[in-house]
Amino acid sequence: MVERAAQILREGGVVAFPTETVYGLGADAENEAAVRRVFEIKGRPIGHPVIVHVADRSQLDDWAREIPKSARILAERFWPGPLTIVLARTSRASNLVTGSQDTVALRAPSHPLAQAILREYGGGVVAPSANRFGTVSATRAEHVIADLGEAVDFVVDGGPATIGVESTIVDLSHGEPAILRPGGITREQLAQALGVPVREGGTEVRVPGSLASHYAPRARVELAENDAVAEGLASALRSQGRRVSLIGSSEVSAFARDLYERLRAADREGADAIVVVLPPNEGIGVALRDRLRRAASPRR
Ligand code: TXA
Ligand code: MG
Repeated sequence: MVERAAQILREGGVVAFPTETVYGLGADAENEAAVRRVFEIKGRPIGHPVIVHVADRSQLDDWAREIPKSARILAERFWPGPLTIVLARTSRASNLVTGSQDTVALRAPSHPLAQAILREYGGGVVAPSANRFGTVSATRAEHVIADLGEAVDFVVDGGPATIGVESTIVDLSHGEPAILRPGGITREQLAQALGVPVREGGTEVRVPGSLASHYAPRARVELAENDAVAEGLASALRSQGRRVSLIGSSEVSAFARDLYERLRAADREGADAIVVVLPPNEGIGVALRDRLRRAASPRR
C-alpha cells in the first residue's frame, strides 16, 4: 500500500492518505500538473496556497530559507505532528503551491501511514484536506470516497483520524509568531516552547480556513454555549417542523475526533439543522470553536 502510494506520487498521480488531523489529497509538490489536478479535484480556486508535507525537519531547508531559530525549535518540539509552519520559501516552492506568495507552509504529519509514504517517496507532497472546497474535511477514507471518489487515483485507508481537526498554522515569516489557523497544537504550547507570546490571527495572507463560510455541512448549523440553550434551540426548530441533529460532548478530544463525522452523518440522515454545543474556549476547543463558527456562517 505504501509503495504503491509512493509510486503513484512519483508518476504524477493523486493519492488520498490519512494524517493524524484529517485526510490529505496528496500530489508531488514539484509536479505542476499533478498539483493542478489536486486543485481541480477539490474545486479549490487557484491562488489559495497549499501545505507541503515532508517526512521530517531535515527537509526544512529544501523548501524554506532564512529559517529563524523559532522554526527549528517548533519543528524539533512538535514534528512530526499537527503543526504547520509558514516560512520564507526557496525556489523549490512554486507559485501554484504558495499562491504566488513569498512564503511556504510546511508540515511533517505523524500518522504512521503518512510517515511511511513520505519516507518512501522522499520529496515534498502537497496535501490539502481531501474534501470538496468549502465543505467538511474528511476524517475517514469513506468520507474521501463519498466526496471525491473516482477522481482520485488511490485512497489509502488508515481508519479514522485520531485528532480530527486540521493542523495549527503558525506564521514565522514576519518576525513575531502569529497563528493563522488554530488547530491540534495550542497557542499556549507554542508560547511555552518559544518563550515568547504568540499572537492569534494575522491573516493578511490568503487562507481558505479564514474565509467566513468554510468547513460547512449542507444542513444549517446553530451554535449554543451550553446544553440548556441547545435543547431550547433544538425544540424550537423541531416545532417548526425541522429535522434537527444535536451534537455535543463532555470530552473535548473525543469531540474533535468525531466532529466532522457527526456533521457528515447529520447530512446523510437528512437533517435540516444541526445544533452544536460549543466546547470551552481552551486547548483544542479554540480550534473547534473556530471551525464551528465558520460552519455556522452565512453561506456564500
Ligand atoms: O491538518 C492539516 O493541515 C491538513 C492535513 C491534510 O495535513 N491539511 C490542510 O490543508 O488542512 P488545507 O489546504 O485544507 O489547508 C491549508 C491551509 C490553508 O488555509 C492555506 O491557505 C494555508 O494552509 N496556507 C498554505 N500555504 C500558506 C502560506 N504560504 N501562507 C499562509 N497560509 C498558507
Ligand atoms: Mg481544507
